[in-house]
Amino acid sequence: MKESEREQRSGIVGREPRKVLVTGGAGFIGSHVAEGYLARGDRVWIVDDLSSGKLENIPDGATFHKMSIGDPAVRDLFQEVGFDLLNHHAAQIDVRISVEDPLRDATTNVAGLLNLLEAARASGTRRVVYVSSGGVVYGEPEERPTPELAPKLPLSPYGVSKLAGEQYLHYYREVHGFEYVALRYSNVYGPRQDPHGEAGVVAIFCNRLLSGQEIQIFGDGEQTRDYVYVKDVVQANLHASDLGLPPSRGLDDRAFNVATGMGTSVNRLADLLEAVSGLRTPRVFRSPRKGELRHSTLDITRFSARGWSPRHSLKDGLRETFQHIARSSKAEAAAEVR
Ligand SMILES: NC(=O)c1ccc[n+]([C@@H]2O[C@H](COP(=O)([O-])OP(=O)(O)OC[C@H]3O[C@@H](n4cnc5c(N)ncnc54)[C@H](O)[C@@H]3O)[C@@H](O)[C@H]2O)c1
Repeated sequence: MKESEREQRSGIVGREPRKVLVTGGAGFIGSHVAEGYLARGDRVWIVDDLSSGKLENIPDGATFHKMSIGDPAVRDLFQEVGFDLLNHHAAQIDVRISVEDPLRDATTNVAGLLNLLEAARASGTRRVVYVSSGGVVYGEPEERPTPELAPKLPLSPYGVSKLAGEQYLHYYREVHGFEYVALRYSNVYGPRQDPHGEAGVVAIFCNRLLSGQEIQIFGDGEQTRDYVYVKDVVQANLHASDLGLPPSRGLDDRAFNVATGMGTSVNRLADLLEAVSGLRTPRVFRSPRKGELRHSTLDITRFSARGWSPRHSLKDGLRETFQHIARSSKAEAAAEVR
């Protein structure tokens, strides 16, 4: 391949490769995002404490530091490398843990972020892509699909900490000249999502279909969520990394929903997964979970107007995800036999 062709594919025509720090790059979404930067020619460092991330998720070509984002050594790393961009995915992501132990949540999501931002300030890193959550910062929104300007009234310590991150970044922007974009994700799904945890309903259902176990649905299954494919989320991160932004009037000028704008019920999700997998297992309906939102869909008009929109249909994304999980569980089973 000619040099010019390689540059065109990697997307670095006309600009220098950047030095990017991806925190949480051993996790589900962060590892895909790290791959996205590498594929377009940027240099990538990953900081992750492996509390939920996995070594095998770290893409080839990235420099890995097993370290907490709250570790003072983070500052040495910023000084040493001089990052052009901080892409911040590391977080305590479990809403229930945040309710049981708000201090633990804030230690990672607020104090950890501040450690990174102080390191960035001291070393001259000025651009940040911050990951927020559209599923929690709006609380129980009256308007659906919910636009960025809707009131931010989070109903969990996790939601409060994600919103606090946006507010701290606004402060760093106003006072220290940072440029940042906050991405408010809806429900992200795709390969590498933990099928054993509570969060990833898609991964959980795939696992249940593959093992022939019943699918458990809490409530009547007609609650809806906005499922966005991880590859579309990667493109949102790359786009946000280069986005030119007009002067800001407030928090919502720097925040974009990353979603599809469409709600899908849990029952429909299970139907689609059966269709793409060709597998079927019984469905069992359990009592609804306390405090769970009935419907959640985000309005993506603003980010679409700025050049990003999802490209994968739910069916295609689910097919790719199912195939990946099926391949990994076959490989796991083979390893157990050996
Ligand atoms: N998955 C979703 O649907 C979703 C929705 C909205 C927002 N988000 C946000 O996206 C980001 C990534 O989430 P994910 O779903 O990939 O979860 P994940 O658990 O797979 O990734 C989080 C990563 O952060 C690492 N980490 C946690 N605490 C750390 C610390 N103190 N220091 C260093 N690393 C630490 C973990 O080891 C893990 O690799 C999080 O900020 C989360 O809040 C996710």
